[in-house]
Amino acid sequence: MYASIVTLLLLHTWTNLAKAVSVPACQTTAPQLTTLTNVTTANTNATEPFGLTFGLSDDIAFVALNTTLGVLNTSTFPPVLVHKVPLPLQYLNDSIVEKESHVVSGATGIVLSSDGRHVLVTAFSTWLVVVDVARAIIGAADAVVGAVNGSLAAGNSAVEVAITKDDRYAFVSQEDPSPLSNSKNGTIEVFELYGMKRTVGVSGRSVGYLTLGVGPVGMVLSPDGRYLYATSEGPGKATTPQGTLSTFDVETLKHDPSKALLSTVIAGCGAVRVIISGDGAILWVTVRESNHVVAFDRAKLVSCPGEALLASVQVGTSPVGLVLVRNDTRILTADSNRFRSINETSGISVVDVQAALRGAKADLGQISSGIFPRELAVSPNGKTVLMGVFGSNKIQAIDVATLP
Ligand SMILES: *[C@@H]1O[C@H](CO)[C@@H](O)[C@H](O)[C@H]1NC(C)=O
Ligand SMILES: *[C@@H]1O[C@H](CO)[C@@H](O)[C@H](O)[C@H]1NC(C)=O
Ligand SMILES: *[C@@H]1O[C@H](CO)[C@@H](O)[C@H](O)[C@H]1NC(C)=O
Ligand SMILES: *[C@@H]1O[C@H](CO)[C@@H](O)[C@H](O)[C@H]1NC(C)=O
Ligand SMILES: *[C@@H]1O[C@H](CO)[C@@H](O)[C@H](O)[C@H]1NC(C)=O
Ligand SMILES: *[C@@H]1O[C@H](CO)[C@@H](O)[C@H](O)[C@H]1NC(C)=O
Ligand SMILES: *[C@@H]1O[C@H](CO)[C@@H](O)[C@H](O)[C@H]1NC(C)=O
Ligand SMILES: *[C@@H]1O[C@H](CO)[C@@H](O)[C@H](O)[C@H]1NC(C)=O
Ligand SMILES: *[C@@H]1O[C@H](CO)[C@@H](O)[C@H](O)[C@H]1NC(C)=O
Repeated sequence: MYASIVTLLLLHTWTNLAKAVSVPACQTTAPQLTTLTNVTTANTNATEPFGLTFGLSDDIAFVALNTTLGVLNTSTFPPVLVHKVPLPLQYLNDSIVEKESHVVSGATGIVLSSDGRHVLVTAFSTWLVVVDVARAIIGAADAVVGAVNGSLAAGNSAVEVAITKDDRYAFVSQEDPSPLSNSKNGTIEVFELYGMKRTVGVSGRSVGYLTLGVGPVGMVLSPDGRYLYATSEGPGKATTPQGTLSTFDVETLKHDPSKALLSTVIAGCGAVRVIISGDGAILWVTVRESNHVVAFDRAKLVSCPGEALLASVQVGTSPVGLVLVRNDTRILTADSNRFRSINETSGISVVDVQAALRGAKADLGQISSGIFPRELAVSPNGKTVLMGVFGSNKIQAIDVATLP
């Protein structure tokens, strides 16, 4: 009894101390970080790489390359771009948007189905394209095995895609408002997928959508598949700076998306991507216009949102993609400098997770990269990270063993 009161008091004190962390303010440029010269990296040419994912094995990865799905053989360092599977142009056509009539805007997000048989590709359009992995690997002409058309009411500017463990539902972040909407807000659209066990004729339908904040982009599912998390950039102006992290109930998303929101917390200025630790306990969010990554206690996001923020770490300028490596002890962020601030560098920050959670100095330095690094993916064995360097038309491979 006595002991438990002492424990409670200690916990209470600890919680109050932990609350000293606050959401980072908007910040145009990040202070210069130490350049890491000892990390082994190497480049592969590829035009405008966006979303990246490995297959189920360590020797294969896929990358969204404008009008094709690039197939990378990752058994060598750097990897070799072995095939480019053409994505039919009608699926990439955003001609419905008046301001950009008849423009083919490229493929954006990609995700591997849980059974490893398909890659789903989004574009700045209404479509979700389904590619057969076995056929893509051999560069077969018939590798595109289906496409699902979304609803224009949900939007036509998809960026990321996530898929449920049973491969029956996909969630798509529509960053810009629908051309049919007066709102400034984007949405999370839900697709039901049909025939994902088949080798041809995969199809599906748009179930509906949930209107989120301004600029929803990053998404991740909890390891148990029960929750979806999504970022929203927020208006991004100094007067109304707050981007958010929202939690959704996956079961509700499948049937009644507009009712699936469980909670929203402030994440900072221009929150853009989110990942989750392997044990599902902590979410990490890049806050692009604050040049920070922030950590949230997953369990508190719904029950006690005001106390969910655990850590905030300064990284390089305009971080976008992020990935956990080495058993979740390091985070790499793609410091994009995407607004090309003068005197700012792009690169890859290395963050020490334990130090970050202790509130100690956690940035271990920055690896150099080309222009506008964007998304990252880690191989199943954890040894290699790939990063798309969108503005330099290359993919940078990083040897995880050589990280500090
Ligand atoms: C880089 O490697 C060299 C040789 O192993 C070592 O002397 C140096 O301290 C390393 N520098 C950093 C920043 O780790
Ligand atoms: C990669 O692209 C650069 C710049 O266009 C070019 O100089 C280089 O030869 C290319 N490398 C390979 C291996 O194709
Ligand atoms: C992307 O594809 C479209 C359509 O083929 C083309 O007009 C555009 O130039 C491509 N972009 C790049 C960077 O190759
Ligand atoms: C990758 O290339 C290696 C050797 O170049 C080859 O043995 C392997 O089968 C290739 N992997 C895939 C998935 O094509
Ligand atoms: C895009 O859609 C418009 C309108 O449907 C059509 O006229 C145009 O040919 C399409 N472009 C491509 C590349 O499919
Ligand atoms: C796809 O969806 C868009 C938006 O709802 C619509 O304009 C277009 O006609 C659809 N295309 C097909 C082939 O169904
Ligand atoms: C639109 O987004 C703003 C800011 O991100 C938010 O405050 C507002 O509640 C959202 N509106 C709707 C209808 O979701
Ligand atoms: C990750 O953690 C597991 C279990 O603690 C351990 O067996 C493994 O060696 C660790 N891997 C790395 C790369 O540290
Ligand atoms: C960039 O750096 C130079 C040299 O230090 C300095 O003179 C200039 O004011 C800087 N520009 C900006 C926009 O910070």
